[in-house]
Amino acid sequence: MVRGIVLFAALAGGLCGSSFAAAPGGGIATAGGISASEQTCRACHTLDTTKVGPPFRAIAERYRGDSDAVAKLKKSMLEGSSGKWNTGAQMPANAISDADAERFARWILGVK
Ligand code: HEC
Repeated sequence: MVRGIVLFAALAGGLCGSSFAAAPGGGIATAGGISASEQTCRACHTLDTTKVGPPFRAIAERYRGDSDAVAKLKKSMLEGSSGKWNTGAQMPANAISDADAERFARWILGVK
């Protein structure tokens, strides 16, 4: 757990490790602020706890070692997803660009 936090902090460039919004917007791909789409994700996802959707850390663990993971996660984000996580909820298709979906997928998969 402690190790995970340290690794995550390194990955996110030292930004607040508990905030998904801080990392994709300011950590890896862009130097810009928090986009509206990232705020939307946070309505249903957090890093460590099941909110409406599964925690990002659990998603990273489940897809670790899956060479198609980026493509699968992108598809779920762009087209919606249900029945995979047994949360009793489903994810609607998100109104994000292909490039954003790729960025989110890579960020989520990088969570340790
Ligand atoms: C309305 C709530 C909601 C919003 C908004 C939402 N999600 Fe989800 N998300 C879910 C639920 C529920 C699941 C589980 C779906 C399932 O069981 O198949 C999920 C699953 C996922 C998965 C795993 C998909 C898979 O194939 O295993 C990823 C990755 C994900 N969300 C990323 C995001 C990102 C990034 C955003 C913002 C662009 C986002 N979600 C916005 C509710 C949401």
